[in-house]
Amino acid sequence: MNNDLNNSILDKLTKVCVCKSISRLNIKKAIENGAKTLDDVIKVTGATTGPCKGRRCKDKIEKLIEEYNESLGEQNEQDNRIS
Ligand code: FES
Repeated sequence: MNNDLNNSILDKLTKVCVCKSISRLNIKKAIENGAKTLDDVIKVTGATTGPCKGRRCKDKIEKLIEEYNESLGEQNEQDNRIS
């Protein structure tokens, strides 16, 4: 099994927001579809609205947003080198 497939399966199985049972895949999809801030992700997914009020998931969501932005930056650098 290749790494992309493993990551994809893990994204489906890993719950970022345990209270609301929201997977990492759904959080990533929200970010890829334009959610740029924690508030945007909350509006789209309902994450952080469980009994812990986001105490256990806010940091994880912010990290996913950061990682996505970093990957965009790296992609732009690669595109600039190619063109
Ligand atoms: S883990 Fe997300 S609201 Fe509790």
